[in-house]
Amino acid sequence: MKTIVANWKMNVGLRGAVALARGTLLSVRGKKVLPEIVLCPPFVALSDVHKVVARSRAVLGAQDVCFKEEGSYTGEISVRMLSEVGVTHVIVGHSERRSHMQEDDATIAKKIKTVLEASMTPILCVGEKEPDDVEQAHTELQAQLRGALEGLVLPGRGRLLVAYEPVWAIGTGVSATPAHVIDRHRFIREVLADIDRSFANCPVLYGGSVTKENAYAFLREDQIDGVLVGGASVKLGEFIEIIQAAVDIMEGSLEAGKNV
Ligand code: PGA
Repeated sequence: MKTIVANWKMNVGLRGAVALARGTLLSVRGKKVLPEIVLCPPFVALSDVHKVVARSRAVLGAQDVCFKEEGSYTGEISVRMLSEVGVTHVIVGHSERRSHMQEDDATIAKKIKTVLEASMTPILCVGEKEPDDVEQAHTELQAQLRGALEGLVLPGRGRLLVAYEPVWAIGTGVSATPAHVIDRHRFIREVLADIDRSFANCPVLYGGSVTKENAYAFLREDQIDGVLVGGASVKLGEFIEIIQAAVDIMEGSLEAGKNV
C-alpha cells in the first residue's frame, strides 16, 4: 500500500480546501486500486472537508494538535476536537513547526502519545538540515526519532507513519534523489526497530519538493511507502497526477502478483 499525504499548510482557506477535496475525490472515482489518501486542510476547514471525504476512500488529517487533552490552552486544538470532526491522521513535528514555533522533541513526544492514545494515526516528520553530511544527518534523525518515540510502544491496532522530510528539500524545488531517500529510510527503519519492535514495520514516506514529475520515481521504490506533498498538493491537476502515479505502480504490483 502506498500513502499520499496532502499538506495544504496555510495555503488554502475554507473554499479552496473544499474545492481541492472535491476535485481530488472526483478524480479517483471508480478506480479499483487506490493509495491511502490523507487530506490535511487547515483547522478551520476540517469540518467542511470532512463532509466531502465522508464515505469516500480518502481520510482527513490535521496539520498539528495540542499536546494536552483539554484545559486552559488558549488557541489550541485537542485530539478529541479533531476526532469529533472526523480526523484520523495528525501530522506531528513538521519542520516548519520545529523552526517557526520552536517545537522541541519533548513536545513532539507528548503529541505523539496523545494522538496514539486517541486511537488516531500520527504522521511523525523527521529530517536533517543539510544534505551532504551523512553522519550529521544520522545524528539528527536518530535524535528526532528517539526524542519522539522512546518509551512508547505502538498499541495493538495502532499505526504510526514516519515522513522523512529533509529540511533542505522542503519548499525549495530541490528534492532528494530516490537513492538518497532509500538510504535514509534504511537508517530510519533501523532506529525505529531499535526503539521498539512495535515500530519496526511502520510505513516510511518521503516529503520535500515532490512534484508530478518526480513522484513516480519515489513511489516505484518498494522502500518508499508513500509521499507527503506540500506545494504540489494545492495544485489540483498536479496532485491528481501524483495520485495516478501511485495507482499505476500499485496496479503494476498487483499484475506482478505482489501484495499492495
Ligand atoms: P513541499 O512541502 O512539498 O512544498 O516541499 C512538503 C512538506 O512541507 O511537507
